[in-house]
Amino acid sequence: MAISSTHSHFLPPLRRVLIVGSGGREQALAWALGRNPEIATVWIAPGNGGTQGKAIALVETDTDALVTFCRDKSIDLVVVGPEAPLAAGVADVLRAAEIKVFGPSAAGAQLEASKAWAKRLMRDAGVPTARYWVVNSEIEAITVLREVNRPLVVKADGLAAGKGVIVAESIAEAEEAIHDAFQGRFGTAGLHLILEERLQGPEVSVFALCDGQRMILLPPVQDHKRLYEGDRGPNTGGMGAYAPVPLLDDNALGHVEALILQPTLMTLRQRGIDYRGVIYAGLIITEIGPQVIEFNCRFGDPECQTLMPLLGPELGDVLYACAIGRLDLAPPLTVSSRSSACVVAVADGYPDAPRKGDAIQSVFQTDETHQLFHAGTQRDKNGQLTAVGGRVLAVVAQGDDFDSAFAAAYSGMADINFTGITYRRDIGHQVRSS
Ligand code: AMP
Ligand code: GLY
Repeated sequence: MAISSTHSHFLPPLRRVLIVGSGGREQALAWALGRNPEIATVWIAPGNGGTQGKAIALVETDTDALVTFCRDKSIDLVVVGPEAPLAAGVADVLRAAEIKVFGPSAAGAQLEASKAWAKRLMRDAGVPTARYWVVNSEIEAITVLREVNRPLVVKADGLAAGKGVIVAESIAEAEEAIHDAFQGRFGTAGLHLILEERLQGPEVSVFALCDGQRMILLPPVQDHKRLYEGDRGPNTGGMGAYAPVPLLDDNALGHVEALILQPTLMTLRQRGIDYRGVIYAGLIITEIGPQVIEFNCRFGDPECQTLMPLLGPELGDVLYACAIGRLDLAPPLTVSSRSSACVVAVADGYPDAPRKGDAIQSVFQTDETHQLFHAGTQRDKNGQLTAVGGRVLAVVAQGDDFDSAFAAAYSGMADINFTGITYRRDIGHQVRSS
């Protein structure tokens, strides 16, 4: 991809960017923005072991420190990666300080931070989604379950770090999940529950970059949420991904935009929410068409790592245009037609009790089509890279087809080692022939 001047003459120059967050998603965003030669510096607060040099030791929700940093460094644009600072109102505080932010207000972040709120919004917007019940006590929940007489999906209402959903296989399992939730298994996030009909079909993640009233969609991505090969085992943050998803061609993606994402953005607007950031629609492609199982207020992780290498250097200007509510001024975002493959390496014991502190050895060579994005890594005082738990890193590669992209990603993963390194060998099984 030619990297030349990508700047839109309708937008002010974008030179200095701050990314908030510490995951692979944030490193991938920083990497993608760094490909624009007009952006002089991309800082990450607080970053991880792969972002040294650019990392700023700030707490994601420390708004005073963030405002001070942005003023000191004359930051042109802040991109907030994770949901927690968005739900805590970090974007609101930065905007009040006249700093440009890509990321919704706390009101907009309720799309992810309260599943009950999001479900009501979907109902008002006419968005296709599973039937549901909001319950506030164990007795109420068990009554619904007995009436429906099917194993329902049990969801904590609030943020639960990706662990607040139990897809019950039986009524007994659903009852146990309900009991555990009201016993505090999800903390305060589980004091209100959503019970939802279980949908059947493949899952796809779709991302809309929004400026409050306009949007552009990125290529659809398929995540692999389960820990074990064959899509079995506990749910995780995501074990790997690929894009674009052939199942959702341009025509189908157009329908998702018209039937799901546009009505959602318009309904947010009707509620007085000027949503400037990502709407992430988690979809299940059912027999009767795509239905929403969740909305998130941010990029997916590892979907972001998978997508960023496919996007052109105009991305920074596009995010800036969203931040100022003027997507109409953004240059067209170029999207590569190549296939992108992402494999995540996690620590032994993840997701319950990941092993920590193992040294990472790597001879991985990054280049135009091979990327290594860190997540749970740190450098110790001698500069040694160590795994510090959870999802440790992701290898991403692009190719002319999925077979070559995954072959390159797995060969890259073979260049990395740490005690207990664990990754699925079947990421992309849906689109690989080998
Ligand atoms: P969520 O945090 O809402 O994305 O849920 C985590 C995972 O649970 C999803 O990725 C799906 O695999 C599964 N899930 C959530 N809701 C449903 C549903 N209504 N039907 C089937 N599976 C679901
Ligand atoms: N990969 C799923 C998520 O970011 O929520």
